[in-house]
Parts: sequence; structure tokens; C-alpha cells
Amino acid sequence: MKNQVGPPVTGNDFFGRKKELLQAWDLLDNGNHLLLPAPRRVGKTSFVLQLRKDAQKHDWKAIYFNVEDGSDETGFMRMFVDALKKEENWFKKNAKNTFDSIGKIMSSLEAEVEVQGVKTTLKWSNAAKSDLKRELEKLLEDTGKCLIIIDELPVLLSRLANIPEGKGRVGDFLHWLRSFRQNPDSEIRWIFCGSISMDTFAERLGITKTINDLYSFSLGAFGEEEARQFLQQLATDQKVAMSAEVQEALIKAVGWPLPYYLQLLFAQLRFIHNQPNGLVLTPEHVTTAFERASDSSNLNTWIERLEEQLAPTDAKWAKNLLDTLCVKEKGFRRDQLEQVLVRNNVTPEEAKDKTAFLLKTLTHDGYLIEHTGEYGFRSPLLRNYWYKQRLQ
Ligand SMILES: Nc1ncnc2c1ncn2[C@@H]1O[C@H](COP(=O)(O)OP(=O)(O)OP(=O)(O)O)[C@@H](O)[C@H]1O
Ligand SMILES: [Mg+2]
Repeated sequence: MKNQVGPPVTGNDFFGRKKELLQAWDLLDNGNHLLLPAPRRVGKTSFVLQLRKDAQKHDWKAIYFNVEDGSDETGFMRMFVDALKKEENWFKKNAKNTFDSIGKIMSSLEAEVEVQGVKTTLKWSNAAKSDLKRELEKLLEDTGKCLIIIDELPVLLSRLANIPEGKGRVGDFLHWLRSFRQNPDSEIRWIFCGSISMDTFAERLGITKTINDLYSFSLGAFGEEEARQFLQQLATDQKVAMSAEVQEALIKAVGWPLPYYLQLLFAQLRFIHNQPNGLVLTPEHVTTAFERASDSSNLNTWIERLEEQLAPTDAKWAKNLLDTLCVKEKGFRRDQLEQVLVRNNVTPEEAKDKTAFLLKTLTHDGYLIEHTGEYGFRSPLLRNYWYKQRLQ
């Protein structure tokens, strides 16, 4: 197993998750569509890639595509169709005609037309939508049990929501996708995941109805035993001698054993270990590794994604709350946090609403955890990173 810190892991580098994989297959076999609203960096993409890999064993077909580079409905469709085209052997010979029809509809949507002297592309109209739906259903009716796994759809939809009339288009598009899932005879199952959760996104736009048929599947950090086995496997494969005491110290230091945090800290320990004179690792080295990992740019995503996901003022207030929280291990009560916003000239009423919304979002996304009425950073590693980046 490689000590891979960042990109999705596959094959031998994918560790554990046996219970969750079984659960996911059980849900899919029972006719559910899945939503993975897990916090960032939990290992969602790696997990769904493993589902795709295991699909054949379970007698399913599966495609995966990531739409984060797309900006609208047509962009989504292009990526969907490209993913389907790679699986030519799934379809009967006459599928070529269906692909051609889809291609024609797409070209008509992408072609520039001149309306009153202004060049524009045709709208994703009702007619185009139902034509595409009909052709896609025709294509997919022969595939049998098939998983369609879509990563990062909310990134594409956020982009679409930001253009004039975009919010309505997002709602229409999600309704259109939902309409595929309403066919009781269909053997297609859909899985949605991404670094921005679809449910938070849909809630913010007031369109939760468009995804209320998806089963919310929770993927969390590793359990303690799984984390120990994972470190043991990494240590063996990477030839890093690591006592049980050092492993315990590492798990304690991350606080919340996300595979990503474990990989990050392990990488720092590995650098310390791989000295020419063959150093013996001790818990003190874990402290050094912890400080170095908190300094690294690997965790920048936790700052950047607030700006991507939230409106500018909400992102500013979220940072204010996290600045306040990073200096206190135990955390603060909600009413104390409301005062942080009040001190930033927010009215008490608005501070109440905003604090409620932001605490929910930050908890959901793995920044914070609530314990006996107090909110604090979920992982000491992230808290230390935040402190170093923002206050030190
Ligand atoms: N099952 C696993 N085994 C080993 N390492 C893992 C596993 N899952 C995740 N990781 C670690 O976490 C990192 C991120 O994984 P992945 O890209 O799957 O997360 P993600 O939840 O999709 O992240 P994002 O929210 O940014 O899209 C990997 O590079 C790896 O270090
Ligand atoms: Mg991902």
C-alpha cells in the first residue's frame, strides 16, 4: 500500500471500508439510490471507485464520471455521454443510432444562433430535455442492473446557479434527473457524491424536493481498530518500524481518524524515520510530525472550500467563528458564538440565524463537533493548522 496523500486511492492502496461496502451493496440491491453527504476528504471518491471496481462481482455494470469541470446542463450531458461511449460493449448494435440522435440534440444545444443580432446558444429547453431523456432511457434499457456514479455535481450546479436565471435552471435540472429515478421498471441506480454535499446545496437553494428520494449514506472516519490496522499495514508496506505506542500516539494526535489525516501524519513520520542512521520512532516524533503536518499546504482546502461553498459574507463569518474556536480546545456554546457575529456588527436576530446555519454547515462538513452543547474543532490537527494559518 502506498502512502498516498491527496488523490483518490484505488486497488491495493484502498484500505478497509468492508462494512460500508457491504451496506452500500445491500442498499443498492434493495432498489435505493445513494447520496454520500460525507464531510470533505473522508474518502468518498475512493469509496465509490471501489464500488465501481466491485460492481462486476455483484453482477452490476457501473460507470463513474466527475463533472467538476462542467458549467451547465449541456456540459453535464457531454460528460455523461462520453462515459457511456467508453462502455460500447454494454449496448446492442443499434445503440449507434441512439448515440447519433443524442449527438444531434447536443449539437443543436451547443450551436450558436443569432437572436436579434446577438450570438447565443439554444436553451436547455423542455423539448430538448424530453428528447434526451427518451434517448437515454432507450440506451440504458438493455444494460440490466447498472450503477451511474456522479462525483462533484454540486460544483457544476453552483457555477450554474451563479448566472442570471441560474437558480431556476438548477432546480429544473435536478427535477429532470429525478424523473429518471421515478421509473419503477428501471434497473439503473444513481449515486451522488462530492466535496460539497448535495443536500446542503439543495437546502440552500430551497429545492430539497428534487433529491428527497435519495438514501443518505453515511461514510465517516475509520473506527479505532480499523485505524490501527491501517497504520500497521502502511508501516509494514513502507518498511517503517512503528511501535504500538507510536501508533496510538498518532491516532490520538489526529483525534478524528480520517484516512487522509492518518496518511498525512504517517508521511511526516516516514520522513523522520527515513534518516540515514536509522532512527527509532517515539511518541515525541509524533508531536514533531503533527506540527509539520499542521504547517503543510495539504490542509489549505479547508480554508479554500469555505469560499467556494458559501456566499462571501457567510464565508467571512464562518472564518470569524473558526478563528475564535481554534484557540479553545473545549469549544464554545452557541450563544457565545453568536456574540462573535454581533461584535462584527451583525444584528442579534441575524446573528442567531447565521450562527445556526454556519454551525450546522461546519459540523456537517467535518470542521466542528458538538459535545454537551459546546462546539469545538473536530480534529486537533485541523485546529492547529487553522491557528497557525490565521492567528499565529
Ligand atoms: N480507503 C482508503 N484507504 C486509504 N487511504 C484513503 C482511503 N480513503 C481515503 N484515503 C485518503 O484520503 C485521501 C482523499 O481521498 P478521496 O479523494 O477519496 O476523498 P474525498 O472524500 O473524495 O475528498 P474530497 O471531499 O476532497 O473530494 C486519499 O489521498 C488518501 O490519502
Ligand atoms: Mg472526492
